[in-house]
Parts: sequence; structure tokens; C-alpha cells
Amino acid sequence: MSERILKALMELFALIVKQDGGIIEEERNYVLNFLEKQLTTNVLIRYLLLFEELAESPDEIYNYPDSSTPSIKRNIKILSICEQINKTLNKEQKAVVLIRLYELLNVSRRYTPNRLNIISIVVEVFRMLPEEVEVIEQFVRYNEAEKLNYHAVLFLRPGEEECDICHKEPEIYSETTIIILRLASVDLYFIKYLSNKQFYLNGIPIVQEYIYTFPKGSAFRTQYGHTFYYSDITSKFLSPEHSCKLSFIVSNVSYRLPNNQKILANLNFSAVQGNLVGIIGGSGCGKTTLLNLMSGMLEPASGKISLNGLDPFSDKRKLEGAIGYIPQDDLLIEDLTVFENLYYAADQCFGHKKKEEIVVLVEQMLNSLGLIEKKDLKVGSIFNKTISGGQRKRLNIALELIREPSVLFIDEPTTGLSSKDAENIMDLLRDLTLKGKLVFTVIHQPSSAIYKMFDNVLILDQGGYMVYYGNPVDSVIFFKTIDSQVNASLGECPSCGSLNPEIIFKILEAQVVDEFGHYTEQRKVKPKEWSEKFRSLQPDTVPLQVSEPPSINLDRPGPLKQFLIYISRDFRSKISDRQYVALTLLVAPVLAFILSAIIRYTPDPDTREYFFSRNENIPVYIFMSVIVAAFLGLTQSAEEIFRDRKILKREQFLNLNRHSYLLAKIAFLTVISASQSFLFVLAANPILGIKGMTFNYWFALLATSFSANMLGLIISGSLRSVISIYIVIPLLLIPMMILSGAMFPFDKLNRLVTRTDKVPLIAEMMPTRWTYEALMVSQFRDNLYNSVIYNSEGETHYSLEKKISNADFNNVYRLPELSRIISQTKEMLVTGGGNTDLIKGNVRLITGELAKAAGYKGAPAFQMRESINAATLTIPALDSLEAYIARLTMFYNEVSRRAEKTRDQFLMLNSGKLREMEKDYYNYKLEEIVTKYYETDKILRYRDTFIQNTDPVYLDPENKGPLCFRSHFFAPSKNIFGIRCDTFNFNTGLIFAGALLLYVILYTDLIRRLMNFSWKFRRRQ
Ligand SMILES: Nc1ncnc2c1ncn2[C@@H]1O[C@H](COP(=O)(O)OP(=O)(O)OP(=O)(O)O)[C@@H](O)[C@H]1O
Ligand SMILES: [Mg+2]
Repeated sequence: MSERILKALMELFALIVKQDGGIIEEERNYVLNFLEKQLTTNVLIRYLLLFEELAESPDEIYNYPDSSTPSIKRNIKILSICEQINKTLNKEQKAVVLIRLYELLNVSRRYTPNRLNIISIVVEVFRMLPEEVEVIEQFVRYNEAEKLNYHAVLFLRPGEEECDICHKEPEIYSETTIIILRLASVDLYFIKYLSNKQFYLNGIPIVQEYIYTFPKGSAFRTQYGHTFYYSDITSKFLSPEHSCKLSFIVSNVSYRLPNNQKILANLNFSAVQGNLVGIIGGSGCGKTTLLNLMSGMLEPASGKISLNGLDPFSDKRKLEGAIGYIPQDDLLIEDLTVFENLYYAADQCFGHKKKEEIVVLVEQMLNSLGLIEKKDLKVGSIFNKTISGGQRKRLNIALELIREPSVLFIDEPTTGLSSKDAENIMDLLRDLTLKGKLVFTVIHQPSSAIYKMFDNVLILDQGGYMVYYGNPVDSVIFFKTIDSQVNASLGECPSCGSLNPEIIFKILEAQVVDEFGHYTEQRKVKPKEWSEKFRSLQPDTVPLQVSEPPSINLDRPGPLKQFLIYISRDFRSKISDRQYVALTLLVAPVLAFILSAIIRYTPDPDTREYFFSRNENIPVYIFMSVIVAAFLGLTQSAEEIFRDRKILKREQFLNLNRHSYLLAKIAFLTVISASQSFLFVLAANPILGIKGMTFNYWFALLATSFSANMLGLIISGSLRSVISIYIVIPLLLIPMMILSGAMFPFDKLNRLVTRTDKVPLIAEMMPTRWTYEALMVSQFRDNLYNSVIYNSEGETHYSLEKKISNADFNNVYRLPELSRIISQTKEMLVTGGGNTDLIKGNVRLITGELAKAAGYKGAPAFQMRESINAATLTIPALDSLEAYIARLTMFYNEVSRRAEKTRDQFLMLNSGKLREMEKDYYNYKLEEIVTKYYETDKILRYRDTFIQNTDPVYLDPENKGPLCFRSHFFAPSKNIFGIRCDTFNFNTGLIFAGALLLYVILYTDLIRRLMNFSWKFRRRQ
């Protein structure tokens, strides 16, 4: 207490006592007693003399205008004294001053009007609540329950249910009454007792009928050691609206790492609603692990944890929303403002509140945390701070506080903060417990004030041994007693009330001294021994059992609203990062420009006239654009989930909808991919003179980018570090390049992976293979030149060329080759030296291929199919086959001739126009690739069939079954469920359909599970 306040108090005391009869001996003693509690003897005398001098001096010594009456003069005097101290005292101190003034009155019990008038002036200046003043007066004046019938007063008497400690020794304390007053406005408790027995407050003997403040962390003890604590009292004052019962029980819990190393050993404790529990201990002794176990993130190796009978690990669904967890790390979204961070967190918990209501709630919260002025600042990263460390911490805590979970776990909320900030945070937690919640917090080096705020502290020693659990003040007494220290029963300093938790660690970690007086590494008492000592001294208590589930203050929005919240949160956080927005929008067009400008090849060095048809780089451009799309898709998404992992950890307690989260990510990324693909095509295609294909290019690139997004999300959710993610990207991208079909033809790969008749299976898994093919085929077939209609039957240049190609293949390759095989077979039959297997194979080939040749519309029917088999094969049968082949040859000659005629006539008639069109739309290099122009082996025999190894782009694949959609590369169509689909539509559609499979992998977190499983499996082995 400052000199000024003490002086002012002496003046107030003096003014009161000299009214109506003057000072009496008891009053003097009261003041002396009061001063004794505040001051040392030599200073005390000075103030006592001052008090006596003022109390005995007549009122007239004050120099006021003569016209004023004595009472006015006195009132002015009181006002001036009160004004003096009003600005120096805080609310709590003012309440204490008022109690002391009433106590002084109570000494002589002279409640005269003049005296009461002085107090009423004090109350007015101090602006105290009238109802609290009334209860203070009654509390000081009376000790009878009838007179103290207030909510703010608690009466404890033996035999009555409320009095726990009186139950312990009901006979001895039969004549005892303990009265407690709670001033809610200042959250202060006062205590007095009436008994002929001695009581102790925080280890200091106290006097009956005198009023003591009952500060946080206090313990009130009987002569026989029975104690009640601050938390016991606060819990009794919890209002019925907050009286949801909570019982958190940890019994015999141990935890081991996968390598069997013990992290926590046999922990036993329990806590109830309204408790603030501090977990302290040296670094690495398992505090965070304990918090993870209690919050259900880890499963104990043995023992049981229960919250109202439910296991936080296995009954997550039943406990959803009841538990809140604030880890040590930052949980803020860097690119959102302080307000937005809290707003989105609140939006996820209050589904039925309107936007305006949530805004009000968020602003109130920010106000109570002192963050309202910073509400529009971006929170920034730890390295690029815009708000201070303390503000970050407070905001992190606010994310959970706003929804008020029944049980809250916080890891080191005050580390790195100033003592003022730390106390503010602890006050917030205290407020939460006053609402009937249960809070566990890990804390490092708490100050005395903070340490005493806890209802219980749990002290962990190295190796995860619990060496103490209980009242904080008692913890010091406990260790001092075991250490046989002088004054062991004093928990806190009697004069200053402070308590030093460091003492505990000094005692715990005391080292053995060697014969030279040096400290050795060895501890005097091992953690296990401390833990055993605590156990043996701890009385057996039966924890409170609660069977009804904890209340859940969570009103989760529906999946659609969650989806919208996620989208909006992502959008806002991305859009606020200007650099990100600029790069995202620029990267595609810049790459497109660089690529297209460099490969815009003009054959004639003099004129430099550009023709699309002569640019040999078009196929490479198509390949590169697909790769760029895949690359952009991967890099855009690869960090998306990884970046959110801490936020997801917090949100797992809300049990939000994972579909909403993932679909929001996918939707957002798809919009980005669609814009990037569009900008790419818009920049590159005009430079390269690609006309009329914008939609196809855009859609194919979007499909590529989309599936890369899905892959990116999968790796982003599965891997544990950014570096691993960026190592995996080339691992995905390079195979996509190699197996796209552009760099290395599929039939020229290692025979172990390749297939003669189809695209190899491994390549089928690459999205780039599908989109590259789609674009190549579409660019070749759907360009304007190839799709001009030539006649009334709707035939185009492409369809005529296709007819010619098919007919020519039959004429030039298939039928002559069949004739050759028939002759060979004949020869074998004649000589009789034929290998029967070879003959069988030949027969299969001949029948199969003739059936194919006969399948063409209008071709002569193949009727001998059934009659020809290897066992009964005869020369005449083969002769008739040769005759049939001759008919087929004539047929195909005719088909080819007619198609050529239609084509040539049209070309002749429109030669000028078509030549121009050809220059702009038809690319020769592309033709060369999709027709395999330079392929030498145009026909191959494979598994007793012929493989057409030329003009793939004119060859429709055979329909082999409903799901046999695989085909040769550059096929113009695909078969699925018996329907022939256009390659472009099929390929792009297949990518989007394949994304469903990727989504399942993403949703179920399959890769991470598999990795964890294999890791565990290897460990076990
Ligand atoms: N996954 C793990 N693999 C190996 N060791 C682990 C693992 N998790 C925890 N540990 C070890 O368990 C011990 C307890 O870790 P924990 O994080 O709970 O300590 P702490 O008390 O919270 O420490 P601090 O105060 O430094 O945060 C440490 O020694 C730590 O190295
Ligand atoms: Mg920790």
C-alpha cells in the first residue's frame, strides 16, 4: 500500500471515529491491528500517531469558508480524501477499503447517521454497486444466517451439506461457523470464522471474527490439517446456469513411444468443473504428451482417461465439441486479419447464428482481449509479424474461447509473454472456469500470482513421473516439509503473500554433493522416489463420478454452409496476398508467351512468313502445354492441406465435415486451374496460329491441371514436410512426361512395360497420356480443314481419308499377308511336315482377320468361318479362302477408288480456298505423328492377330467388351459399354471420372495410413 493511500485511510479512519462520541480503545486497537498487518513496527508508529492526532483533533482545524456548517465542511473534507485515493486504488482495493471502514464501525457498533454518512460518501466516490455495499455491510455486522441471506454469502457449519471440512471432524468443530463473501464485480472472496478452534489461512494462523481476503490459490486449514481451497469455494458459487457437472479422471495412465520408451508413468488425478489446472515440469518431461493424451489425440499405453465416463480417444464422436485444444504452435491463418481469423472460427461453431450476430460476438471477444484496435491488421507469419507475440497468443486462445468448450487444453499459453500479458491470459482462463468449464494448461516458470491462480497444479518430473497434484500453495509446503526445511508450513511469504514455485524445482532437482563440495550429476531423490512419496502421503479420495455427458456448446453449420465458409476463408486469405494473386495470374500467360514465341518456326528464312501447317513444333507445343498444366496444377495444390495441418488439428475437435473441407479446396483450385489454362491458351494459341480450337485446348489443359490438383492435394495431406512434398513433385511429374506418349512412342519402350496392341498399362495411369492424345487427335481431326463437308452424305476430308486408309491397309497389307499365310499353311498341309500348333495359329489368324476385313459395311460376307478349323482343314477349303480374299481385294479397291474420287473432285473444285485453309489449320508434322508416317513395319503379327501399325488416327478400336476402353495410341474413338465415343470427350471425361478415385484416396487419407502402417510394421519386425 502506498504512503498516500495509507495516509488517506488514516484520515478516513480518524474522521469516522471522532464522530458521535470520539475514539474508544477498541477502535484504536483495530487500527493498530490493521497497521500491524501492513507495516513494520517503526513505520507503523508513525501512522498510528498520525491517526491518533487526527482522531483527537477538533474538526475546526480545517480551513473552510465560515458560512459552511460543520457537516458540509466534513463532507468536503471526506470528498477530498476520497478523490485523492480514488484514482490510485483499483476496484479490488476499493472493496477492501470499504470492508475495513465497516469493520471499524463494527468495533464499537455505533452505526450513527454521521458515521454512515461518511461511508456513503466513500461509496459514492468509489462508484460501488449499491447491492454489493449492502451485502458488505451485513457481512461485517452480522454472523447470523438469517441476516445474511444473500447469494453472495456462503455459510459453512458442521452438519450442513456445504461444509466439507466440517464433515471431517464434526465433533471437534461443532461450534464453528465459517462465512464467505463473494464480490462478483471484482471476483474477490472474503472469509471470517467464529470458533474457539484455531484456523490457518495459507499456513498463517488467523483470528476469529476478523475479515480476511481469500485470494486465488488460497487454502483454509483446520488445526488437524483438513483443508478447503479457493477452488472448493469458487465452485460453490458457480451459478446454476453454469452448473453442468464435469468429472475428468485420469487413472493409472502411462504412455510409451513405439520404441517402448516410457514417457509418462502411472498418472492418477481428477478434476471437476470450475477447475483451472496447471501442469508444470521441466522441458521434455511429458507435459505436451499428457495434454495430447487427455484431449484424445493419443491413446494411453495403459490406464484410463475419462470425461464424464467417456473416453476422449475412443468416444470422440460422443464428445465432439466438448473438448477444445490450443497447441503450442500458432494456429492463425497468416493472410487473414485478426477479425477474419476469429470470425471464421466462430462461423464454424455457430451454425444458426446470423452473420451480424457472429460479428457482434467476435467484436466483443476482441474487445475483451484488448485486440479490437488491431482487428483489421493481417496477422502475418511469425517471421513477418504485424501483430505482437502476445497479441498472437491471445488471438490463438480466442479461437477456442469464443465457443467455450466444456474442457479446454492449452499448451504454454504464456510462454514468451510479458508478465502483464501472461496474467491477462490467465484471467481469461479463470473467467472461463467461473462459467463452470474445466481448463488444463501447461505452463513454464509461472509467477507467484499466476501460480496461485490455479486450483490445482500437476507437477511432472523427468521421465513423466507425477510428483504432486493439488493446491498450489500446499505444493510448496509439501516439498518444503519433505525436505525438512525450517518454516515448512508457510506456503507463501507471510508479509508479501508471494510464493515462489522455483523452490519446488530446487528441492526436486537437488543434486548430491561430492566430498570436495562440488555438485554431482546425480540427484538426491530420483523422480520415481518423489512420485512414490507423493502417492504414499496422498489421502485416498474417490473422484466424483458424473454419468451425464458434458454440455456441448457447438452448433455446427450444415455441410453446405461449411463448404461456403471454407471457400470464403480460402478466397479471402489468398486474395489478400497480392504477390500470390499476381503470380498465379501471370505465370501461365508468361510461360505461354515464352514457349510460343520461341517455337514459332518459319521455314523460309527470307520471307519469315508464318504458316501453321509448316510449324514442326506444334506437337511439342501440345506436349509442353500439357506438362505446364500438370506442373502448375501440382505446385498450386501441393501445400494446400499441409499448410492447414495445424488448423485442422484444432478443427478436429469440432468434427467438421471433411467433404466440405476437401470439396472447397478442390473447387477453389479448379477455379484457379481453369483461369490459368484459359490464360495460357489465350496467350499461346494466337502466337502459334492455332485457330478454332480454344475450347478444346482450354478444357484439355483444365482436365490435366485438375487431376494434378488432386494428386497435389493427396501428397499435401500425406507427407510430413514441405521438403518431402517438393521432392515428390518431380517424382510425379517426370513419369508423366516420359509416359505421356509424346517423348517416347509407346511401341518403342522396354518390352517389359510395352504392349504391341495397346498403350502400356503404366502409361494409362498418367493423366498427361490422355490429354496429350485428346489434344493431338482433336487438333488433327477437328480442325476446320479436316472437317469441311465434301458431299451430301456429310463426308469430310478426314472421313474420306479414313476410308481410304482402311481400304488401303486391307489391300496393301492385311489381305496380301493373309494370302501369304494361306499359301504357307497349304504348303504345310501338302508336305505333311507342318507343326500343328503353327497351323492352329494360322487358322486362328486367318479366320479372325478375315472376319475383321469382312466387317466393313458392304463387304462380301465371310461365310466359311465356322467350317474352317485346324483339325479338318483341307486344301480346297484354303483355295476357297483365297478366292474370298480376291473378292475382298476387289471390294476394297473399289472403296478406295470411290473415296479418292470424291476427295479429288472436291479438292479440284475448291483448290484455292482449301489450300489456304490447309496452311492455317492442317499441320504436317502432326499428321506425320498421328499417322506414323515413317513407321517401317506397317503390320505386325501379335498373338495370332494382325496389328495395324500405321494410320492409328484413322483406325477405330475393336469393341471387345463393355469396360475394354483401352486402345492403341491416337485412336480417333474409344469404346465403353458398347458405345463408341469420340476420343477427346472420352479422354477428358475419363480424367474427371478418375478424379473420383483420387478423391476417395484423398478423403480416406489412404497414402498416409499406408505409410504409417508400413512404418509400424517394419518397427514391429
Ligand atoms: N514421437 C516422439 N518420438 C520420440 N520422442 C518423443 C516423441 N514424442 C515425445 N517424445 C519425447 O517425449 C518426451 C516428452 O515430450 P513432451 O513434448 O511431452 O515434453 P514437454 O514436457 O511438453 O516439453 P517442453 O516443455 O519442452 O514442451 C521428450 O523427451 C520427447 O523427446
Ligand atoms: Mg511441450
